[in-house]
Amino acid sequence: MDSLKGIKRTCYAGDLRKEDIGKEVVLMGWVQKKRNLGGLIFVDLRDIKGIAQVVFDEKVSVEAFSKAEGLGSEYVVAIRGKVFERASKNANMTTGDIEIFAEELRILNESSTPPIYIKDDDDVSEALRLKYRYLDLRKPKMQKNLMLRHKVASTVRNYLSENGFLEIETPFLVKPTPEGARDYLVPSRVNEGKFYALPQSPQLYKQLLMVSGMDRYFQIVKCFRDEDLRADRQPEFTQIDCEMSFVDEDDVISIMEGLIKKVFKETLDRDIVTPLPRMTYKEAMETYGSDKPDTRYGLEFKNITDVVSNSGFKVFSDCAKEGYSVRGINVTSGAEAFTRKAISKLEDHAKLYKAKGLAWMKLTSEGVSSPIAKFFDEETLNKIIVAMDAKEGDLLLFVADKDAVVFDALGQVRIAVADKLELADSDKFNLLWVTEFPIFEEDEDNDRFVAKHHPFTSPNEEDIEKLGDENKLSLRARAYDIVLNGYEIGGGSIRISDAKLQEKMFEALGFTEEEARNQFGFLMDAFEYGTPPHGGIAFGLDRLVMILAGAENIREVIAFPKNQNAVCPMTNAPSITSEEQLKELHIKVSIEDKSESK
Ligand code: AMO
Ligand code: AMP
Repeated sequence: MDSLKGIKRTCYAGDLRKEDIGKEVVLMGWVQKKRNLGGLIFVDLRDIKGIAQVVFDEKVSVEAFSKAEGLGSEYVVAIRGKVFERASKNANMTTGDIEIFAEELRILNESSTPPIYIKDDDDVSEALRLKYRYLDLRKPKMQKNLMLRHKVASTVRNYLSENGFLEIETPFLVKPTPEGARDYLVPSRVNEGKFYALPQSPQLYKQLLMVSGMDRYFQIVKCFRDEDLRADRQPEFTQIDCEMSFVDEDDVISIMEGLIKKVFKETLDRDIVTPLPRMTYKEAMETYGSDKPDTRYGLEFKNITDVVSNSGFKVFSDCAKEGYSVRGINVTSGAEAFTRKAISKLEDHAKLYKAKGLAWMKLTSEGVSSPIAKFFDEETLNKIIVAMDAKEGDLLLFVADKDAVVFDALGQVRIAVADKLELADSDKFNLLWVTEFPIFEEDEDNDRFVAKHHPFTSPNEEDIEKLGDENKLSLRARAYDIVLNGYEIGGGSIRISDAKLQEKMFEALGFTEEEARNQFGFLMDAFEYGTPPHGGIAFGLDRLVMILAGAENIREVIAFPKNQNAVCPMTNAPSITSEEQLKELHIKVSIEDKSESK
């Protein structure tokens, strides 16, 4: 193996252009590809900036040429040579105008045959990609994603710093923070039988920093949540976490719109028009069945409960009588695209979300084609058509049930229809704020109320008095989410800054005084010493970068993510640990099968 002695890199292979013709350069990188054409050997040399073609010509250097014969894929090399105009230019390569004739070759390291190809369109399983992540990250697309992530993070740091935010670190070994997921626990060796939790977010610390007079805080920070994983969820993920003193909703929203605007400009050179649209939670649910609607396409809900309340279709009329609702979407010109089979697939999809069925009507040149048309008189049918704003060629889809089920099931059907018809323009970025979230939601498993956002969110002024009411579900919080193309990319609220009100909130959430003191005594104590009004937000950095990168999974923008089972296939974490270590931690594992996990 050769050394780096007496040789220094002069530039990156991927940066070379026509203007460099005639220069002597030293490049260092990996062998992407080698072609031996007898007297000439062509090597594609790859570094972080891209790929350049290097030519080994016996006439230039016999020594370099014969060494190059031994090169294999992913060997690490240094080459010294001169840049020439390329005889046959390659318009597909940014360095396609030039090539380097090598005068010296140093082999810095060899490589075994890699188990995955280092190219973007390699069709290999994600399991293998994650197992060999260090190779997967050599792919240009992955490197681009991580560069984009860096660009977003540095833009965020600059913008927030310029706007008076201090970057302050908060602990990872904490008391549990109630953000609604399960905690990752860390046993304490020196405090026998006691556990820290890894923070689900720095929520309480950032509020305490406001009590400390820090005025504006931010942190790009890991958060840990033990929850079921999805394409946009990881057990450890990164937040852009912010908090501000002496602010109301509009202050937080406006400064964060500035941040988003800047991020889009700096990364994609896109101009985002602000102020962004705002929609209340109620409006979002009634129009799209979701609190994170993708507004790149319509398919808005129409409520036809009144129209069908006295109809002969019992499913609908019974629902109306129960006080439930019947809502539908008009898939404009969708009658042809959806065969009976396709509709039946949609119905199965709706049923996954607890709908009892998915009623449908097609408007054809011969009238309404539908298994339920026979249950309606002509007048009602016409009223439905008018209410649904329907015309020939349209497909109407309906769900009748409790609002919660209608919203969820029809909302999912809406997304499935848009997917099938490719209605979402991938070049569009639709941002909006969803406001006035409910304070509480029902925890169906435990039959009690839980905070929809978190227990530190301030109620709307007029709802403070109603915190003790039996039916709390209609109460509104001063909470807001920011939504991008159907993803919740951030959420925050104006906080409670009054100890008494905070106590009332814990009470409304079913905490006894003792439980509240036990868990949050430090916060309530802090609130006794002059707490400024404050509020904030946290963005999901991974989700934001994923959308900016045009990726469909946050794992594509995280260097070393976990798989769907929260396992790292590269290191095999989590793994069993030694008896000795467990003993030190005063922990006994009761599970019999201690074999390495999946
Ligand atoms: P919230 O729980 O809404 O708010 O989280 C803020 C944002 O973090 C992202 N996010 C996730 N991203 C990837 N994987 C996950 N498991 C995951 N969970 C959440 C989402 C979300 O919008 N402390 C509050 C913020 C505040 O009130 O200021 C909080 O954590 O994009
Ligand atoms: P059924 O009377 O159960 O045979 O249903 C007739 C049609 O109505 C079928 O297409 C069902 O999918 C649909 N349907 C049944 N229940 C509901 C419901 N709650 N909401 C919407 N459509 C329904």
